[in-house]
Amino acid sequence: MKKLILKILEENKGTPISGGELARQLNVSRNAVWKNINSLKKEGYKIISLKNSGYIFSNDNDRLSELEIKKYLKARVLGSKIDIRQTVNSTNNELKTVKNNQNIENGYTLLSEEQTDGRGRRGRSFLSEKGQGLYMSIYFKPEAEFKDFTLITIAAAISVCKAVESFSPSISPKIKWVNDIFIGDKKFCGILTEVVFNAEENTADTIITGIGINTGSLPECLQEFACTLSDFISQAAIRNELAAKILNEFEQNLIDLQKNSSDIIKEYKSRLFILNKHVIANNFKEKIIIKAIDIDNKGRLKAEIIDGKNKGKIITLSSAEVSLLSCEKYLYTN
Ligand code: BTN
Repeated sequence: MKKLILKILEENKGTPISGGELARQLNVSRNAVWKNINSLKKEGYKIISLKNSGYIFSNDNDRLSELEIKKYLKARVLGSKIDIRQTVNSTNNELKTVKNNQNIENGYTLLSEEQTDGRGRRGRSFLSEKGQGLYMSIYFKPEAEFKDFTLITIAAAISVCKAVESFSPSISPKIKWVNDIFIGDKKFCGILTEVVFNAEENTADTIITGIGINTGSLPECLQEFACTLSDFISQAAIRNELAAKILNEFEQNLIDLQKNSSDIIKEYKSRLFILNKHVIANNFKEKIIIKAIDIDNKGRLKAEIIDGKNKGKIITLSSAEVSLLSCEKYLYTN
């Protein structure tokens, strides 16, 4: 019954609806309505009780909601099935497990209010405190023969940038190759694309793209390196709209990518903040200083080695093998 009450309140967002009306629609007692509303309030939903006119589902509710996401969703495949959980260890892990258990549909999107073991690239963790971020994984099937998985992360990164800009054109998110998105010199978003291979046919069976965005408060220990969208966007509740807008952009970018990667790469390059700068590349055996020069049509980084015995050599780095050290303080401006 709680779910039904929530649905009716959400459908009437901002407008009062009386306890009597809810009781009538659901064929239950007013007391049962009252108890369920109290329980929803305890779960964190902002429901205002008015003495004479009933209950209002407040406009600044930031709880994840399928109904709210669907209000803004234009994508046809991505988000065709939306699943919202209160807590999971990692939305990417969860999709991998679901995938093994049943045939889930193309575009299935899982969001959670919290992750107890949110994961980043290369075994790093991604802090995912309850209600303080958008933690979302999208499951989809690539076109046959599609092998340049870095391009998928690139398409997702551009989608996040555009979706964020739609809330405030004065923000201009920038990307650090390949999957980190910054505002100024602080990271607010990371992307983790994982491929599940079909061993028999040696093809990518499914792709899971996980996107983590800080939207609420950040613990003090992260504030030196990370920022959150609530520092830049005044709108109180953005997560549902943001999720839908990312799915809309991402679907379009994936369609464009299947035809030709050059426009996506061009857009990506215009948002990269490392080009023509010196950065430290870490291939986990050694760290070398390189100058980032360009991105090729597979999303790999072309760079020049800046010191040591290979000084001056031009190399091409793949995101699977190398990561760039993650803080602006490691970047040298020439
Ligand atoms: C990174 O910063 O290296 C990538 C972070 C990716 C975090 C997202 S949150 C949703 C999905 N679930 C995870 O466990 N990770 C991704």
